[in-house]
Amino acid sequence: MAFDIDLIKKVYAEFEGKVAEARKLVNKPLTFTEKVLYAHLTTPAQRAYQRGVDYVDFAPDRVAMQDATAQMALLQFMQAGRDKVAVPSTVHCDHLIMAQTGAAQDLAVAKQDSSEVFDFLASVSNKYGIGFWKPGAGIIHQVVLENYAFPGGMMIGTDSHTVNAGGLGMIAIGVGGADACDVMSGLPWELKMPKLIGVKLTGKLNGWAAPKDVILKVAGILTVKGGTGCIVEYFGEGAQALSCTGKGTICNMGAEIGATTSTFAYDDSMSRYLKATGREDVAAAADAVKEQLTADPEVYANPEQYFDQVIEINLDELEPHLNGPFTPDLATPISKMKEAAAANEWPTKVEVGLIGSCTNSSYEDISRAVSLAKQVNEKGLKTKAEFTITPGSEQVRYTIERDGFLDTFASIGATVFANACGPCIGMWNRLGADKQEKNTIVHSFNRNFAKRADGNPNTYAFVASPELVTALAIAGDLTFNPITDTLVNEKGETVKLDPPSGEELPAKGFAVDDPGYQAPAADGSGVEVKVAPDSKRLQLLDPFPEWEGTDLKGLKLLIKAKGKCTTDHISMAGPWLKFRGHLDNISNNLLIGAVNYFNDKTDNVKNQLTGEYGAVPATQRAYKAAGIGTLIVGDENYGEGSSREHAAMEPRHLGARAVLVKSFARIHETNLKKQGMLALTFADKDDYDKIQEDDTIDILGLTTFAPDTPLTLVLHHKDGTSDAITVNHSYNAQQIEWFKAGAALNIIRREFAN
Ligand code: F3S
Repeated sequence: MAFDIDLIKKVYAEFEGKVAEARKLVNKPLTFTEKVLYAHLTTPAQRAYQRGVDYVDFAPDRVAMQDATAQMALLQFMQAGRDKVAVPSTVHCDHLIMAQTGAAQDLAVAKQDSSEVFDFLASVSNKYGIGFWKPGAGIIHQVVLENYAFPGGMMIGTDSHTVNAGGLGMIAIGVGGADACDVMSGLPWELKMPKLIGVKLTGKLNGWAAPKDVILKVAGILTVKGGTGCIVEYFGEGAQALSCTGKGTICNMGAEIGATTSTFAYDDSMSRYLKATGREDVAAAADAVKEQLTADPEVYANPEQYFDQVIEINLDELEPHLNGPFTPDLATPISKMKEAAAANEWPTKVEVGLIGSCTNSSYEDISRAVSLAKQVNEKGLKTKAEFTITPGSEQVRYTIERDGFLDTFASIGATVFANACGPCIGMWNRLGADKQEKNTIVHSFNRNFAKRADGNPNTYAFVASPELVTALAIAGDLTFNPITDTLVNEKGETVKLDPPSGEELPAKGFAVDDPGYQAPAADGSGVEVKVAPDSKRLQLLDPFPEWEGTDLKGLKLLIKAKGKCTTDHISMAGPWLKFRGHLDNISNNLLIGAVNYFNDKTDNVKNQLTGEYGAVPATQRAYKAAGIGTLIVGDENYGEGSSREHAAMEPRHLGARAVLVKSFARIHETNLKKQGMLALTFADKDDYDKIQEDDTIDILGLTTFAPDTPLTLVLHHKDGTSDAITVNHSYNAQQIEWFKAGAALNIIRREFAN
């Protein structure tokens, strides 16, 4: 479990010098975010990087992976040929546990259902020096905050809410498995220098308002896209007055505004949290450099000069919010909910209130929620809605049990789910959800898109603080405003809920019996990675073959995709996710969502060998069986969406050789390059129209493949005519080596073999 204090001290020892160098180049005062970024460059900066423009190589301090995304990340990492991960890394088993009846039983079922995945992750972690958190140990982001996050550090994680660690002053960013694999293999990690949004918090939270309401308000202002390409830095007296875990909640939901990440400069709340979680030495190390772990003084005094955008929120006036339904940026202050619900015909009866998750399961959150639960008995009330608690970690669960909170919740009929994602990620086997009835739930999670929690598209999910969720569950009414409204108790008396109160940190300290951590073997060379040869969910990867050293001739057109083709169209999610550790099985979803230009149908393309139409994956497999390579053609912004590496691995695995599009989403383009595919763009976008359904294609110029030198594509049409078109690429010298070697990982493996 041990965090690496020596690593943290090394980061701090170099921090000031690196920042001073950067300040000379940038030639103005630096925000806290910029300091952390410049302190984590792989090589010293030669110039000031332009925000929103320049791509920069970083060296993160840590990697964290959850069990769903870790599978492919680790399968790939195993191909790098290293004995050990290059940076401290952890795996957290939290996504594969279905919430249904309660923690103990649900956990037992998950351990049985997903044992082969857990066993694989445990064995591969053990072998390669990766810390392994067993199922039931907790949710990745809570466990990272409790154990690994440190002020001024930089980490990546294979989950979009990795950003949660910003609450402890990190720059923590969610990435795909390929990026995690690169960093664990010792490669630099590339990111476009983000723009900066400053959020100034004045005043102090009071009464019913909670840290969650800060981000619910910000989401309402910025919308789900407003933070795209930006890092949000919170500051001001209001920021300092927030608890560290409250800051974590705010950063967590920065993912819901599309922000690259969010963070807070180091302050006392972080020091208190570090000490409470057994990291006095980290707190002492951070204290020793605390002037470094914040922005230069001029920045917060004149934020407009140093941030690309500034928002100011007065916490004295902040109202509790309910965001939703179906989108986390539809923000309604609680005082306006009666009108909003009536105007929009939202069902107002609250069926279930759910608290906890990675977003909101701190001791403070739970203690404030329990202060309301206590009032149910004290005031003779009865909780109208169902109520569930998802603790973020075993440490939190054990501590709140010790302090009697779970008993109080039990007394109002609550169910405690396992320390895992559960309903937050749709792993909630909610009774009756299949009837798809219109209904309302309130939760303290982060996302509320349709079907996210229980799979029912007619569940109206509203996001709120744990304390407001608890109050609304007690009232059973979405429009209940606990600040002004009263309730009628079982005796018919009118009663009012007192505002929540709680403790930032447990007075008796945190406690835990078995945290659920497995340390890796000191020498993993003898450890065997467990994958059953007949497994349907896991498959060890074979290296992709090297380029044959010639031009590619006689390729067939697999599909000319029309319009939007995101990573979801290329590699669908949903039921396919269970195969994310099995490349061959998940490849059966290749491009099944893409629209065929020639017949406007999805998953229906012509097999030129037979003249028949069939599913894309089956057609591609037929070409592969015949030893024929293929070309995939796409439109604008091909591969936008997630950074899922499967979208690049599947075509490569099934024998496609090149993807030719009008334009690429950059991450997908890079992923294709890493997997040894040719990622090409039309020099003249109108040439897209020249691609015909029965084309046979040659790609020429590969024997002299060089940066900034276009290639030529010859389209041999069925009628005997042909077109030669120019295609561009953005490969640099290194990336051309990836292509020649068959994949980036093949090069790393060679380096370690030598
Ligand atoms: Fe993600 Fe929720 Fe788990 S945001 S990490 S699914 S608790």
